Amino acid sequence: MENLPYHKNLIRLFLLLQCSSLLLLSSAYTLPDKYFINCGSDSDYTVNGRTFIGDNNPNFSHGRSKSVKDTHTSANTSPLYQTARIYEQPSSYELKMDSNGTYVVRLHFHAFPSSPNLSTALFNVSTANFTLLSNFGVRNISKSPFIKEFLLTINGTQFSINFTPSPDTSLAFINAIEVFLAPESFIPTNVSHVTPSGSNSTYSGFLPQLLQIVHRINVGGTELTREQDTLLRNWIADDDFLLIRDAANSSFKGIVNYQDGGPTQYTAPDLVYETAKVLNTNFSNITWRFNVSKKARHLVRVHFSDIVSISLNVLKFNLSIYGKFSWPINPYDIDMFKLAVPFKYDFVVDSDDSGFMNISVVPWNDSLKTPFLNGVEIMELMKESDWVPPMQSEQNKTHLYVIVGSVAIICILLAVVVIGLKRWKAKPTETLDCKSREGSGFGKVYEGTLRNGRKVAVKRSEPGHGQGLPEFQREIEVLSKIRHRNLVSLIGYCDEGSEMILVYEFMEKGTLRYHLYGDPKGSSSRSELSWEQRLEICIDSATGLHYLHTGVVGGIIHRDVKTTNILLDENYVAKVADFGLSKSGYLDQTQGTTGVKGSFGYLDPEYFNCFQLTEKSDVYSFGVVLLEVLCARPALDNALPREQMNLAEWGLSWQKKGQLEKIIDPFLVGKIDPNSLRKFGQTAEKCLKDHGIDRPTMDEVLYDLKYVLLLQQTAVHREPYEDSASDLPLEIPLPVVQRLPSHSVPVEEEEVPILSHDGSSTTASEVFSQLRIPDAR
Ligand SMILES: *[C@@H]1O[C@H](CO)[C@@H](O)[C@H](O)[C@H]1NC(C)=O
Ligand SMILES: *[C@@H]1O[C@H](CO)[C@@H](O)[C@H](O)[C@H]1NC(C)=O
Ligand SMILES: *[C@@H]1O[C@H](CO)[C@@H](O)[C@H](O)[C@H]1NC(C)=O
Ligand SMILES: *[C@@H]1O[C@H](CO)[C@@H](O)[C@H](O)[C@H]1NC(C)=O
Ligand SMILES: *[C@@H]1O[C@H](CO)[C@@H](O)[C@H](O)[C@H]1NC(C)=O
Ligand SMILES: *[C@@H]1O[C@H](CO)[C@@H](O)[C@H](O)[C@H]1NC(C)=O
Ligand SMILES: *[C@@H]1O[C@H](CO)[C@@H](O)[C@H](O)[C@H]1NC(C)=O
Ligand SMILES: *[C@@H]1O[C@H](CO)[C@@H](O)[C@H](O)[C@H]1NC(C)=O
Ligand SMILES: *[C@@H]1O[C@H](CO)[C@@H](O)[C@H](O)[C@H]1NC(C)=O
Ligand SMILES: *[C@@H]1O[C@H](CO)[C@@H](O)[C@H](O)[C@H]1NC(C)=O
Ligand SMILES: *[C@@H]1O[C@H](CO)[C@@H](O)[C@H](O)[C@H]1NC(C)=O
Ligand SMILES: *[C@@H]1O[C@H](CO)[C@@H](O)[C@H](O)[C@H]1NC(C)=O
Repeated sequence: MENLPYHKNLIRLFLLLQCSSLLLLSSAYTLPDKYFINCGSDSDYTVNGRTFIGDNNPNFSHGRSKSVKDTHTSANTSPLYQTARIYEQPSSYELKMDSNGTYVVRLHFHAFPSSPNLSTALFNVSTANFTLLSNFGVRNISKSPFIKEFLLTINGTQFSINFTPSPDTSLAFINAIEVFLAPESFIPTNVSHVTPSGSNSTYSGFLPQLLQIVHRINVGGTELTREQDTLLRNWIADDDFLLIRDAANSSFKGIVNYQDGGPTQYTAPDLVYETAKVLNTNFSNITWRFNVSKKARHLVRVHFSDIVSISLNVLKFNLSIYGKFSWPINPYDIDMFKLAVPFKYDFVVDSDDSGFMNISVVPWNDSLKTPFLNGVEIMELMKESDWVPPMQSEQNKTHLYVIVGSVAIICILLAVVVIGLKRWKAKPTETLDCKSREGSGFGKVYEGTLRNGRKVAVKRSEPGHGQGLPEFQREIEVLSKIRHRNLVSLIGYCDEGSEMILVYEFMEKGTLRYHLYGDPKGSSSRSELSWEQRLEICIDSATGLHYLHTGVVGGIIHRDVKTTNILLDENYVAKVADFGLSKSGYLDQTQGTTGVKGSFGYLDPEYFNCFQLTEKSDVYSFGVVLLEVLCARPALDNALPREQMNLAEWGLSWQKKGQLEKIIDPFLVGKIDPNSLRKFGQTAEKCLKDHGIDRPTMDEVLYDLKYVLLLQQTAVHREPYEDSASDLPLEIPLPVVQRLPSHSVPVEEEEVPILSHDGSSTTASEVFSQLRIPDAR
């Protein structure tokens, strides 16, 4: 509790400074905080970082309605589906909107046992000009909970969702509501218009008011849950839509090179672009068949990323709709120097009266015969209805305009974030409620709560001597330029004289180090992370670092990669934090003259000795992190005998003896597949090479880690053969790691990494590295 005095100071600080310059960061899109509503509930519930606010309070304007609770709550039902709001007469849920644009609107339905009986409900749901659902009831629900999703253009300050129960049952219900702004230009304005007879024309000024999501497919991969998606979408696997299943095999490669001007992770998450279906030899095309409404107009979005080719500019094919219209696909139109660059096409397609739509990929004669597809979305354009809003006379007018939780700082923040970089003057009363959490390199970190209940982390510079100010400025400079799922994001900051405060997203689960071997100061309450969880954390952090090194801004060296700078959110998604020491290799010419900075135990020997600072210094530190994750001990522990003190040295000595398993975390003993461990050891060893030039790049590390995870996961599935490594290559149902074109040479068994019969994975990794695409940059 040594930090308690800061707690009070901090609140005062906010009051006194009046934060005349709490600067807000303009940045790319992130998923907004509102509206996520837990209908009929008193309590909030968080899904994937977004809090569904219980609406049983006067801040919500939900018209004439009541709330009901599940009378037989079972522990495995999400709290979202244990309560509902019911309407026994026509009435409306009102939301206050603060920007015009395209919104994602999701309505959640789950009929739980209650009184009145929700299974008897029958109702319409509409907005000002559209009927969203008509004659809707549980008979329409094939699986429960049922989530109906729309893209809706909202223009105005008020958004109403009208519930109209049928006169027979007088009952309507809703369990949860999501209404949030989609990324800018989410719906293109110029698209090709395709008719069933195959004619196409350019459609400019395409401005649909309402789209209903009909299909959202992750081709070549598994179902993706809402938790795995950047916009809380659900993607399903494509297998059931294939006309001829044998015509295609799944392909996987764990790299996505997002490019400016192309899709982002919000267009579709990495997991969609990392998998594809690829045409098999002896087949002439892959065709998927989707049920759609007859004679309706659809927006069809097809996602591609060339994870298939082994060299550039060799593959072209056609995308065909209804077998009549075809469109040339050239994966290098967007970036001819890189593979695995995501791109998408949108088409407005009129359906015929068959009730389905065929989508195919078809090879060109003079090209490699490996057309592929990564994802498909089909959305139906809804027509305006002649619906007339019900009279609102029975309602108390003032209630209509009650704002939903909008006074909280964060809402204002978001509004401004959308507009751009602006100064915002906080009212003295808009304080944060803070408590001390954890020390960090350049200041204390506090846990804070904004008035809307959103938790944030607050970092304050050491008061008094202005220590650490350059690091704070550095951090603001870096974080205001970049935004990535695996980098902690800055929400705002306050800069006043020698005082500085940074406000970050709150990372519920704290540091990675804490989860590996507890608090260094004693209380060792560590959680027991499984090997898969640890690998996923490593993959997340490697993704974040890869982005720093090569992303939009690029050339940023973190310089202080360590397990206390890797933070975990409530779902154990890892994010890299603390950019106070980071350097941009392109801009900063002073490197080498400023003295060595970083943390002992993690320092790149080359940098330490020669002041040679490159991205490879981060790779070295990350190698130490990998060992820490495996062995669950600190990078440097002076209490140990000399040869064990430095984890990098100690770990490497065991790795070189081929006995790394002797020093792993006792909790993991017997739980790691030997091949997975071997590959992991090799990856760490490569990162820890003395010379930067011998170390892999971060995306190579990322690729290896994904392979390590795959080895572990497939090991689980081949349990009966667990001990006979010699059976390995033929037994693993691996997704295709890399497909070679038919005319390329010498690797047999092209779909499966080869392990030699004694199970030694040198062979495997050699083969694997042959399969790796040479980076063309
Ligand atoms: C939405 O657009 C209308 C007209 O285009 C404008 O009057 C209104 O102020 C806009 N609302 C917001 C929140 O920008
Ligand atoms: C609720 O209604 C459904 C459909 O009408 C019926 O099958 C079910 O038995 C009812 N449940 C109760 C508890 O009355
Ligand atoms: C509904 O349609 C009418 C007429 O087309 C239009 O004036 C009005 O702005 C629309 N309302 C909304 C909320 O889009
Ligand atoms: C629900 O089912 C009924 C009858 O099967 C149908 O008329 C209605 O359009 C369906 N509603 C929705 C929203 O699918
Ligand atoms: C929004 O509404 C205003 C009038 O209410 C209209 O002038 C404007 O064109 C609308 N904007 C869009 C994008 O529909
Ligand atoms: C629901 O919508 C359908 C079709 O739009 C309409 O025929 C029906 O009368 C509506 N029901 C109610 C209760 O408004
Ligand atoms: C859409 O097409 C129109 C005319 O065909 C053109 O002026 C406009 O620049 C295009 N917009 C985009 C975003 O390509
Ligand atoms: C129609 O599609 C073909 C490709 O199949 C393309 O070459 C042509 O330019 C398109 N026409 C229009 C008007 O978009
Ligand atoms: C594709 O998958 C099938 C089994 O579904 C397998 O027999 C075949 O070897 C795979 N590869 C190719 C190139 O067909
Ligand atoms: C493709 O066809 C040839 C000849 O018909 C056959 O020998 C070969 O086994 C087939 N390949 C696959 C993968 O089915
Ligand atoms: C796909 O191949 C089948 C035969 O296997 C053929 O009937 C169909 O026309 C092809 N579709 C396209 C779009 O080429
Ligand atoms: C309602 O909003 C006010 C002002 O934003 C806030 O102080 C209060 O805590 C909110 N009430 C609930 C129950 O969320």
